[in-house]
Amino acid sequence: MSDILKKLKLELSDATLIVRAPGRINIIGEHLDYNDGFVLPAAIDKAIYLGFTKKENGKTTTIESIDFDETIDVENTDNTNGWAAYFFAVHKILKEKEMWHSPIACKILSDLPVGAGISSSAALCCGYLFGLNELNEWGLTRLEIAKFAQQVEHEIGVNCGLMDQYAVMFGLKDKAILLDCKNETHQYVDLRLRNKALFLINSNIKHELVGTPYNDRRRTCEKIISAIQDRYEDIPSWQNVKHHMVDEVKLHLTANEHQQGIYVVEEFQRVKFCAAKLIELNVTAIGKALYETHEGLSKQFQVSCDETDLLVALAKQNEVLGARMMGGGFGGCTINLLDKKTAQNKIEVITSSYQQKTGITPDVIPVNIGNGVDILILDNL
Ligand code: GLA
Repeated sequence: MSDILKKLKLELSDATLIVRAPGRINIIGEHLDYNDGFVLPAAIDKAIYLGFTKKENGKTTTIESIDFDETIDVENTDNTNGWAAYFFAVHKILKEKEMWHSPIACKILSDLPVGAGISSSAALCCGYLFGLNELNEWGLTRLEIAKFAQQVEHEIGVNCGLMDQYAVMFGLKDKAILLDCKNETHQYVDLRLRNKALFLINSNIKHELVGTPYNDRRRTCEKIISAIQDRYEDIPSWQNVKHHMVDEVKLHLTANEHQQGIYVVEEFQRVKFCAAKLIELNVTAIGKALYETHEGLSKQFQVSCDETDLLVALAKQNEVLGARMMGGGFGGCTINLLDKKTAQNKIEVITSSYQQKTGITPDVIPVNIGNGVDILILDNL
C-alpha cells in the first residue's frame, strides 16, 4: 500500500465525503491564459485530499491540515497566512455571494508539493469548493468552480488566468487539455507517452507569485494589446495579433515590454505547433519547442531565475529531449521530457550537478497524467 493511501485510510476514513484534487503540469503555453490564448495543461497523479464531515452541533467550519499540523476556524482565527489565507478568501467570497453552507470539519492531507509551481493552491481551492458544492447541493458546474477558485487567487493578490483551475477541474487520465482561454472551451489530446516519460525537477527556489512581477507581466500584456487595438479596429484579442503588430506599437513600449509582447506572439505559435505534433506523436519536435519556450520565458518574458535556467541548461547538456521552466516562474519546477530507458541516469547527472553548483538539493517528481477533481471512495482503492 502506498504511503499516501495508508495515510488516507488512517486519517480520513471517518469522513462523509473525500475529494481528491490533483496538481497540474503544463506542456506548453505559458503566460498565455490571461492573454486569451491556448494552453496545453494536464492534471497529474499527485493530489490534495480533503475529508469533509458535516458538523451536527458545531457552529463554525474548521479546517485541519494534517501535514502542517494546524487547525483553523474560518470565522474566528487570526491566522490568515499561508494555506489558511485561501480558506479565508473562499469564505469571504461565499459571504459576498450570500451562498449558504452548513458548518463542516475538513481534514486535509497531500502528496502534492507546495510552492513548486504545480498549482497546489488551485488544487486546494477547487477541491474544497467541489466538496462544499456536493455537500450543500449548490449545483455549480465544473467551470463555475474553476472560476470561483480563480477569484480566490485574485482575492489573495495573484491576478492569474484560468489555466490551473481549469486543468485541475477538467483533467482526464492520459489526456492533455487543449484549452482555449478566450472561449473557455477545450478539447482533449492523447498524451500517452509510451517509451517517453515526464519528470519535474523542483529547483526548490520557492515559487510564490504574490509579490512577484507576475501581475506586472499581465499589466504589460494588457497595455500592448490595447495599443494594438488602438491601431487596428478588427483585433478582438491576442488570438489575432501578428508579430509585426507588436513591432508597430514599439514606440509606446519599453524595450523589455516589446520583447515580452514578442514572446506572447511566438508562444501562441508554439502551442499550435505542439498540439499538432502531439497528435502526430512527434516527441522530438515537442522537445525542441519546450527549449524554445524556456528561452522565451527567460530572455524575452523574463520570468525565469538562475536556478531554473541552470536546470534547463543541464538538461540540454545531457541531451534531454526537451525541458523548460513551468508555471508562473520565479522558481519552482522544470518539466523534462525524456526517453524512459535513459531517464533515471540523466536525471541523476542533472540533479547532482545542480546540487554541486548551487548547494541546493532539488526534488525529482515523476509525473503521470491523471483525472481531475473527483470524489474518492476509499473502499474502492
Ligand atoms: C500561474 C498562473 C496561471 C498561468 C501560469 C503561467 O500558474 O496561476 O494562471 O498564468 O502561471 O502560464
